[in-house]
Amino acid sequence: MELDEVIERAGPRQFSPKDDLPIEYRKAATRMIQFHANSEVMGGYLDKQFTRHAPSLDRKLACTAKVQDEIGHAQLLYRAAETLGVKTRDEMLDELQNGDGKFLNCFHYPVDSWYEAPMIDFFVDGGAMRRQATLKSTSWEPYAHAMDKVCFEEGFHVKHGESILKELMTGSKATQERVQETFDVWWPRIIQFFGPPNKDSKHNDFAQSVGLKTASNDYLRQSFLNMYIPKAEKYGLEIPETPHIEYDEETGRYELEYDDLDWDEFWTIAKNDYEGSHIQIDARANRQTAVEWVRSAMDSLEQSTSPTPQAAD
Ligand SMILES: [Fe+2]
Ligand SMILES: [Fe+2]
Repeated sequence: MELDEVIERAGPRQFSPKDDLPIEYRKAATRMIQFHANSEVMGGYLDKQFTRHAPSLDRKLACTAKVQDEIGHAQLLYRAAETLGVKTRDEMLDELQNGDGKFLNCFHYPVDSWYEAPMIDFFVDGGAMRRQATLKSTSWEPYAHAMDKVCFEEGFHVKHGESILKELMTGSKATQERVQETFDVWWPRIIQFFGPPNKDSKHNDFAQSVGLKTASNDYLRQSFLNMYIPKAEKYGLEIPETPHIEYDEETGRYELEYDDLDWDEFWTIAKNDYEGSHIQIDARANRQTAVEWVRSAMDSLEQSTSPTPQAAD
């Protein structure tokens, strides 16, 4: 199929492995799904640390379950990416290990307290939910299919994060202040989670023209602000003064001062060059090395096992 025809036919779940698609489409879809899968892995590794900080057994169990979900999402997505025939799952995992694999900005910052749990589990997962809901109608069918399961589970993650936020914000005054301080640090990162403004996004136009993306960065950021500013305020959080955000009554939109955000830091992160990037990537890379023996044991088992004999009638 020529690219013109792809653009003409682009629509929800329009293309699948039985279609002969041009390399431009297959590469763009691989880049997007691999980025998403890497982000699930790195988000899971970040979240793993909350299990240690969680104040009760119930919270620890919920944190563990969430980490399992995130790693499961990554597996589904690597499989969906593989169906494009550009890279194998092993190649993508190796790229994540050697520092070439890219992932979402929020997962490059180290975490070290329980107060950060709702920043990731409520706000970042809430943002992810906004984005992923629109990907149910992406044009690559295996990706959309994976989103059905992922979105269902993300709904639980957001509830889990909201419950932690609610508990902390009805705690002591000192606890509430610590949450607010943590929110002040995370808020600009969370807004940048949706990527650069449309005008500065390299991949936005192509991805939208072939139906891989169905909503722009600015649209998703706006829909997040509309939903999450009232929620943050409901739990007693104050929206930080920077970046400047103003609600326009007439348009019903939040107008954001983009220049108040640190885009140098954002683009350094995008290249995996931020100081925290190396800490996060290396920590996860060491885990991949540590379980290498399991992979090779399973590979040799697979090679030595003959096909399962048919059961006799
Ligand atoms: Fe996830
Ligand atoms: Fe999640």
